[in-house]
Amino acid sequence: MSAQLQNAKAISSSIEIPGRKMEFDFDVDDIPKYWYGNDAFRSTFMNALSCLFPEGERMFMDAVRDNQHKINDPQLQKQIKGFIKQEAIHGHEHAQYNDCMKKWGYPIDSIMRFEKKEKIWMKKWLPASRRLAITCALEHFTAIMAHQILTNPESTEGMHPQFKEMWRWHAIEETEHKAVAFDVYQEAIGSYWLRIFTMLTITVLFCLRTSVVQAIFLWKDGQLFNPKVWWNGFKFYFFKPGLVPTIWRDYLDYFRRDFHPWMHDNRELLAKWEAEEQKYKTV
Ligand SMILES: [Fe+2]
Ligand SMILES: [Fe+2]
Repeated sequence: MSAQLQNAKAISSSIEIPGRKMEFDFDVDDIPKYWYGNDAFRSTFMNALSCLFPEGERMFMDAVRDNQHKINDPQLQKQIKGFIKQEAIHGHEHAQYNDCMKKWGYPIDSIMRFEKKEKIWMKKWLPASRRLAITCALEHFTAIMAHQILTNPESTEGMHPQFKEMWRWHAIEETEHKAVAFDVYQEAIGSYWLRIFTMLTITVLFCLRTSVVQAIFLWKDGQLFNPKVWWNGFKFYFFKPGLVPTIWRDYLDYFRRDFHPWMHDNRELLAKWEAEEQKYKTV
């Protein structure tokens, strides 16, 4: 085992994963539809992610729970409890956010119904090992996007304060628990090729799914064929600092045989946020 991997594993087992009581109260009358820098592309992109979170996070919890009996390490068992608590609260808070979006005329209920059916289908037809590999791949996506949100102030510039607070909190907790599903996978399943094959398929499906939901929102707004919206989207993905240039290296690290999420050691972000945001009660 490389020294880098050993170090990442030591960090991983030292991480505490608290559940925090959150009560975001989104007042749609107070929040503009294009709450992210008055930009239709950015706002609908984040809205699409939010729309996919509640069912996605329930799937993650199920996948980890269904493999939990294979874990002997008491610290990892404790972290699993923290992971489940955090994801349950994320799902709940994003459901409030999604309710807010309904008032903007988006077909949230239909999208959520589709997501729920897919989750039931996956539980019925995919083995627990495969669902856990999917969870690890998507948790890697959320972790590297969270890192981007927390380290590039430009990435949250222009967000409505309520949504900014929510996305930063979610980014912090995704960072705290980024290795839990991965550590469970390594102990319970361990296959490198299943992990890599799943990441490749999930990369395509995740990008496609997010884009389709975003396109539905833009179509509802009559903005789908507006060239200015797509130019702003191009800038969002590739310029200043650009989502793709800021995450692609971290994304590719997942393909290393000796990868571990805590090789990207960003504990200083957790400490900084904790020092700034002491108002949240843990549960
Ligand atoms: Fe989450
Ligand atoms: Fe997560």
